[in-house]
Amino acid sequence: MSAPAEANQRGYWGSGLGFVLAVVGSAIGLGNIWRFPTEVGENGGGAFVLVYVIATFLIGVPVMLAELALGRKTQRNPVGAFRSLAPKSGWGLAGGLGVLTGLIILSFYSVVAGWTLKYTWIAVTGSLHGATPETISATFTNFIRDPWAVLTCHLLFMVITIRIVLGGVQRGIERAAKILMPVLFGLLLLLVVRSLTLPGASEGLSFYLKPDFGKLDSVVVLKAVSQAFFSLSLGIGAIITYGSYLSPKHDLVSSALTVSFFDFFIAFLAGLAIFPALFSVPGLTPDAGPGLIFVVLPNIFNAIPLGNLFGAAFFILLAIAALTSAISMLEVVVAFAIDELGWNRRRAAIAAGSVIFLLGIPSALGNGAVPFFSGTLEFANQIFGGMALVVGALLVSLFVGWKWGVGNAVEELERGRGTFRLRTVWGFLIRFVCPLAILTILLQLLRG
Ligand code: PFF
Repeated sequence: MSAPAEANQRGYWGSGLGFVLAVVGSAIGLGNIWRFPTEVGENGGGAFVLVYVIATFLIGVPVMLAELALGRKTQRNPVGAFRSLAPKSGWGLAGGLGVLTGLIILSFYSVVAGWTLKYTWIAVTGSLHGATPETISATFTNFIRDPWAVLTCHLLFMVITIRIVLGGVQRGIERAAKILMPVLFGLLLLLVVRSLTLPGASEGLSFYLKPDFGKLDSVVVLKAVSQAFFSLSLGIGAIITYGSYLSPKHDLVSSALTVSFFDFFIAFLAGLAIFPALFSVPGLTPDAGPGLIFVVLPNIFNAIPLGNLFGAAFFILLAIAALTSAISMLEVVVAFAIDELGWNRRRAAIAAGSVIFLLGIPSALGNGAVPFFSGTLEFANQIFGGMALVVGALLVSLFVGWKWGVGNAVEELERGRGTFRLRTVWGFLIRFVCPLAILTILLQLLRG
């Protein structure tokens, strides 16, 4: 950190607020606004929501604190962070797994984010205004089958992401998050108000909020817990990386709590925007799957007054949310290349971004365009978006709880705030509750 050139390449957050907004921006993305409602719809409504909340605060927050402490203590990317605290051990591989996972998640995440760019355009131009449900479905199917259209959108999204990461920590990421996150929040509130005032909204509300415990089984619990990790950006080292740009003045504990609360709140609002509206249109069901947003929502927007306007707002919001998350995934790889390979930011961002674009091509083409690649997106999402994240979070909790040590981590957590009153509780959670819960989930995954 002593060499000024190196400090310039890595960078620091300009303010505490900028840091919190950037982490909130990383956490809130397609995971909250597209994946969360889809999972709730497929996995029992309110019961899923309840497990998700518990998982977020009981397992997610402790792991986030562990990642923040690791990042700020070491001021390093995930690989360097593990290595510097446990030199000459195999722990660097845990960070390496994170970098690889970030690379692959972003490759398909960018494809779906590209769809949101297309739908922003469709909504802004009003080309589905007044269209029949059949036309709306056919439009989506034709779009994802058109190789040039999906590749162009994927490329466009990656280029925007690279542009922002090229700007560095303060000028690029922090400034983008400061402007984009409040806009996103405002747009979502607008959609919730619209949705809640539609006829039939109460049926959707009770599906969403009334837990039916009969629907709770091990698969639902498992999906809710992995959704919590995905949504909080845990398990690939994104939070380690963002924490590494923090100065010792900053209070990590209240940041983690603020971020987790906002992440949960945005997902919750997304559900509030979607389910009441969904139930207000006859013939639509909540278990529509991944097509929910792209196939079903345009129908809803067409069926409500000012639907065009709300549709455009919604897809802009989704694209913005995806962008601030994608930035954090690319930053993991860029930080690794800067710290470990000695590259400059420009070279790292362009090279990593290009590799990610290429890796995403099979996911982009595997939805009807090229039969050979069929199912790639789902496969990558399941293995890397589900499994690898959970393994990553397990390794973080084992490392911090048993190798680096709770005492050292607490010392880091107390810098910038004074006593961490829940230190014993946190130590217990990170040493026992998190690893055991995650191990149970992994065993279930392997069995199922
Ligand atoms: N948390 C993001 C979302 O909910 O869309 C996805 C994500 C971002 C996962 C960054 C992992 C990560 F490191």
